[in-house]
Amino acid sequence: MYSAIVKPVNKLSGTIYVPGDKSISHRAVILGSLAKGTTRITGFLESEDCMRTVEIFRQLGVDIAVSGKNEVVITSKGLHGLKEPKEDLYAGNSGTTMRLMLGVLAGQKFTSRITGDDSLCKRPMRRVTDPLRKMGAKITGKVKNYDEYAPFVVSGGDLLGREHKSVLVASAQVKSAILLAGLYANEETSVIEPFKSRDHTERMLEYLGADLKVEGNKVSIKGRGHLVSKDIVIPGDISSAAFFIVATSCLKGSEIVIRNVGVNPTRTGIIDVMRRMGADIELRNEKTISGEPRADILVKSSKLKGITIEPDQIPRIIDEIPIIAVAAARARGETVIKGVSELKVKESNRLMAIHDLFHYFEMKLNDCSSKRLVIPGEQDMKPQTFSGAVCNSLGDHRIAMTGIIMGLMAKGKTEKAKIFDTDCINTSFPNFIEILKKMIPEGTIKVEK
Ligand code: S3P
Repeated sequence: MYSAIVKPVNKLSGTIYVPGDKSISHRAVILGSLAKGTTRITGFLESEDCMRTVEIFRQLGVDIAVSGKNEVVITSKGLHGLKEPKEDLYAGNSGTTMRLMLGVLAGQKFTSRITGDDSLCKRPMRRVTDPLRKMGAKITGKVKNYDEYAPFVVSGGDLLGREHKSVLVASAQVKSAILLAGLYANEETSVIEPFKSRDHTERMLEYLGADLKVEGNKVSIKGRGHLVSKDIVIPGDISSAAFFIVATSCLKGSEIVIRNVGVNPTRTGIIDVMRRMGADIELRNEKTISGEPRADILVKSSKLKGITIEPDQIPRIIDEIPIIAVAAARARGETVIKGVSELKVKESNRLMAIHDLFHYFEMKLNDCSSKRLVIPGEQDMKPQTFSGAVCNSLGDHRIAMTGIIMGLMAKGKTEKAKIFDTDCINTSFPNFIEILKKMIPEGTIKVEK
C-alpha cells in the first residue's frame, strides 16, 4: 500500500488539464455498447472504476478497444446484442457501474450475477432494485437491516414502463438505472426526483437518439426504440478540478487555469458554493460538444467567508463536500452544510472520514451528524490554521486527495503530513499527484510504499 508525504506550500500556480469526467466516461461505455454501430470516445477516463464498466461489457460480448491514450472504440450490435456472461460480473469499487448495470441487466433475456469489492458490497442497493422489480425484473441480493446488498443475481426480460417517484433521495445513479431499464420496457418509463441530480444520462440518451422528455425534475423515456452510435468527446472532471479550485482559492498568491472542464449546470455546485464564499473564479471559452458544456476555469486566491448550504443544493456538490469542508475551515465565519446523510453511504462513510481528517489535522467541527455539518471558520478574521498529522484515506479516493490538499495547506508543529493508503486515488484520478507536482515546488510531495 502506498502513502503520500506532503509538506506545506505557500501557493499553487500553473495551467493544467484534469482527466475525463468519471460519470460521463461510464455512460459513454454503457450507451456506446447499446448503440448499434461504432462509437468513438475521446477524453475517456482510464481509471479503475471506468475500466470495470469496460470489462463488464466485454464479458457481455461487446468489442471494446481501449488505446491507453484516453480513446475508446466500441463496436456494438445494438440494444439487443448482449450475450450471457460466462462468469460473474465484477464492479470493483464502482457504485456507478453496479447501479447502472443493474438497470441494463434487468432488460436482458439472460441471467447474470454481479458483485463488487468489500466497500461496494456494503453500499445500499434497494433504492435501485425495488424500482427495477416494479418494472418486472427478477433480482435477488443479500437482504440485511431493511436494505439490500451485492452480490445480485439478475434475471431480466420483458419489462413494464412505470412512473417512479424517488421521494427520499435524489440520486443520478438510481435515475440512470431506471432510464436504462426503460430502454427495454414496453411503454413509457418516468422518474421524478425530489431535487435534480446530475443529468449526463439524459443528455447522452438524447444525443444518441432516444425518445426522451424532461419536464422539471421529471424525466420520461419511451421504451423499445434504438440508439444510434456517434462520436463522444468527454470533458475534464469538475469533481477532480475541485481539489485545485479549493487549494488555489485558499492559498494566498495562487493562480491556476484548468482547461476543458465539464461545466454541466447539474455539476457546477462547487463553483457556485465557492463564489458565494467569495472565491475568484472565471469561466472562459465555454462551448458544448456531444451534449455536454465545457470551459476553462481560471481561479485566483481570495478571502473566503462562511455560508449556509441548503439540502436542495447537495446533489450538485455531493462528491465535493469533503474538500468544501476544508475551504470552510479556512473561511471567516461558520459554514453550515445541511442534508448530508447521503455522505454516509459513499465509497466510505464520508461524514466519519471528514471527522477523522479534521481530528488528525487538529481542527474543530461543531456538528458532524447525518443532519448537518457545521464547520467553524476563523473567528478573529484570520484563516484557521492546520497542523500537519498522519491520516488514513479509509480506501476512499476523494478522502485521500482531500487529505493531501490539507497537507499542502498545513501549518504548525509538524512539518509534514502523511496520508496512508493513497492507492485508491486510481479509482478516479490516476495522475492526481503527477498533476499536483506541476503546480508546487519540487520535493513537496513524495509517495512511498
Ligand atoms: C454518480 C452519481 C453520484 C455521485 C457518484 C457518481 C453518477 O451518486 O456521488 O460519484 O455517476 O451517477 P448518487 O447519484 O448516488 O448520489
